[in-house]
Amino acid sequence: MGPKRIPKTFKICCCTTTVLIIILFLITLTLFLTILKPKQPKITTRQVTLLHFDSLFDPFEVNVTLGITVNVDNPNYGSFRFGNTAAYVSYRGTPAAEAPIEGDTIPARGQHDITTEVVVTVDKLLSNSNFWDDYNAGCLNFTSTAVFHGRAEVLRVLKIKATSYSSCDISIYVEAQNASSVCRSRIKY
Ligand SMILES: *[C@@H]1O[C@H](CO)[C@@H](O)[C@H](O)[C@H]1NC(C)=O
Ligand SMILES: *[C@@H]1O[C@H](CO)[C@@H](O)[C@H](O)[C@H]1NC(C)=O
Ligand SMILES: *[C@@H]1O[C@H](CO)[C@@H](O)[C@H](O)[C@H]1NC(C)=O
Repeated sequence: MGPKRIPKTFKICCCTTTVLIIILFLITLTLFLTILKPKQPKITTRQVTLLHFDSLFDPFEVNVTLGITVNVDNPNYGSFRFGNTAAYVSYRGTPAAEAPIEGDTIPARGQHDITTEVVVTVDKLLSNSNFWDDYNAGCLNFTSTAVFHGRAEVLRVLKIKATSYSSCDISIYVEAQNASSVCRSRIKY
């Protein structure tokens, strides 16, 4: 065993270790950047349905109950939690009703539909000068809005805050006693 051999073996060993460390580092980095990286949850208002339309023949007692369904889709490998919030319904700019939406935790890579009911009573709408024209024309247009504040968590250390704004244009048809809605949402973080 000459004195030159030991450094050579040492060099090979050192090289292999370095390469292994680099590979491990790259694998970990890739994992963090792809699978573990917190992603935006999707919060969308699916639909607004007309649950009740009371006193159709007496407009002074019109009482409309809307069902609002919000879908929360969490693409993360960790849970997503959002706090209590509310849905606000307005009729052509006049606040008409609101309903609480309870906070929830969506498990990793899961989704939930959250449903809330909003009761709109006619007395809130009468102050708007468009009401009788719209009522006689048979179509009442509302908008609903909701803001969700949430936080996605992966491995307890990777966290992302997300705020989602959801709004819908709702048309209620008096004679058919049904409703149609167009919803959109946007997210900020
Ligand atoms: C409106 O209708 C709902 C459901 O039928 C009922 O629970 C509520 O008491 C009504 N409200 C008014 C003010 O009539
Ligand atoms: C209500 O909304 C519908 C659908 O967006 C629209 O076609 C209609 O013109 C609106 N009616 C009024 C009175 O604004
Ligand atoms: C509402 O009812 C009318 C008449 O029954 C129907 O033509 C229309 O498709 C219905 N709209 C929705 C959104 O269900």
